[in-house]
Amino acid sequence: MRIDILTVLPELLESPFNHSIIKRAQQKGLVTLCVHNIRDYTTYKHRQVDDYAFSGGAGMVLMIEPIANAIVKLKSERNYDEIIYTSPDGEKFNQKTANTLSIQENLLILCGHYKGVDHRVREHFITRELSIGDYVLTGGELAAAVITDCIVRLIPGAISDEQSALTDSFQDNLLAPPVYTRPAEYNGWKVPDILLSGNTDEIEKWMMEQSIERTKKFRPDLLNEENDL
Ligand code: ADE
Repeated sequence: MRIDILTVLPELLESPFNHSIIKRAQQKGLVTLCVHNIRDYTTYKHRQVDDYAFSGGAGMVLMIEPIANAIVKLKSERNYDEIIYTSPDGEKFNQKTANTLSIQENLLILCGHYKGVDHRVREHFITRELSIGDYVLTGGELAAAVITDCIVRLIPGAISDEQSALTDSFQDNLLAPPVYTRPAEYNGWKVPDILLSGNTDEIEKWMMEQSIERTKKFRPDLLNEENDL
């Protein structure tokens, strides 16, 4: 799989992709992550990529030309399954979308910008707009990092025990059960006896009960959603 990301702030995406599972997935050749600076595609003086909105008001808008140059070049090199734009007005990103995107071959993500991008980019190039939640970030880079992280960890082989991605919170519309490790008792606080019993059937049953209980308590909305992740 390959994910190309277009941004005016490539530095913001260095660290999230250079640690742990996401770094190893790249080293194992499971995914290629390419961050492109939109400024490298501008023909304007001083590497300009944004300008005032015709509608007036504060804040600069990313111009269509550098973005179009970048997208056209990348599209001439491979076919993209989706060209995603990160924006608070997009469709809400969730585990189901992450699952769908994780089985694609090539994705292109355009990071949204403080005041937005020239709307013609969205009309003519973007196939999917994604929001990571109902709040406004300073730019789409962190959203692109979140989306990429979620997708990459789902690629088979990215997590050593494949099962562990399948048992994540949300994978079946349930929150994950609590987990414990040594010591079995700390400060008088004990790990539930069942987990020390060695009875794997009972442990599994307990975990499912805990998942359901926690979901009812903290995210009852999930129990009403369609179970088709
Ligand atoms: N850009 C700014 N806020 C965002 C959000 N919540 N999701 C995606 N992109 C964004």
